[in-house]
Amino acid sequence: MSALKNPKKNLLKWYKTHGRHELPWRNSDDIYHIYLSEIMLQQTQVNRVRDEYYPQFLEKFPSLHVLAQAEQDEVLGAWSGLGYYSRARNLHACAKLMPKGLPQSQEELLKLPGIGRYTASAICSFGHNQNIAVVDTNIARVIKRFFALLNPADKTIWHYASDFVNEKDPRHHNLALMDLGSLICLPNKPKCQECPLFKECQGQDEPELYTQTKKKEYKSLELFYGVYIKNNQIALQVSKERMYKDMLILPSVDPIEENFLGKFRHSYTKYRLSVHLYKIDVLEDDIVWVDIGKLENAPISSLTKKAHKFFYLA
Ligand code: ADE
Repeated sequence: MSALKNPKKNLLKWYKTHGRHELPWRNSDDIYHIYLSEIMLQQTQVNRVRDEYYPQFLEKFPSLHVLAQAEQDEVLGAWSGLGYYSRARNLHACAKLMPKGLPQSQEELLKLPGIGRYTASAICSFGHNQNIAVVDTNIARVIKRFFALLNPADKTIWHYASDFVNEKDPRHHNLALMDLGSLICLPNKPKCQECPLFKECQGQDEPELYTQTKKKEYKSLELFYGVYIKNNQIALQVSKERMYKDMLILPSVDPIEENFLGKFRHSYTKYRLSVHLYKIDVLEDDIVWVDIGKLENAPISSLTKKAHKFFYLA
């Protein structure tokens, strides 16, 4: 009998009672739904995905086939506000490559744009119940503590997680680990008394020892954008910056104090931005005019959405 038989059983039992079974992608066997949720959830909080973006995106693009037919601008528009827009471009690229459905093997999935080890494993485990480990930040924390791994390399964590998978029910095993990490095995003050793995947990004496709390480093940036409104349309440009590639952004300008409209702060990935807006009436060539009333569905970022409240001043 494997030494880990009991904790695996206890984990599944705990999941039955305490798991987040209501999450819509967990109640779907459509691989596209599972794939979409995993891409959205990579950098975005569960509640925002569940309540806003996931249902709205599926309403617009109910299948890979429909997504494959869409224009990139429509897809970026549906992603508007979620950030990390390369996720949307890769999703669209995958749909175009595989409009009839994604491959089932991890090896084939890994060849597709934007699909790394985590996403491929999640699709195989959650979508096909394959006997495969899944490691996200929450699961990594549980594994590090349970096996008392001090500063392990990623591949070590994957190795231990693979050894630990419950071959009788890999899908629920991985979902249970994910929920355990987000509900019990918290980064600070884990609720060890409520943990189904406590008895066998090798890190139980000092759980915090195994949690890396690398301080995030932020970069401050000042940005200067021009606002030009004509006939209820706003002048935007197709971004060439990697971060906002193919999105529509306000044109960059040199600041002229007498045209100053206002400023606001915005956080994006590691950047803490201070955004200054100026009224302009001269434009470069590559301008796209967008109806202000249609900005809602345009491929714009949260930053541009925030700037909206200053448009009436221009
Ligand atoms: N269920 C399946 N995948 C998930 C994820 N990445 N985050 C939260 N719940 C999930």
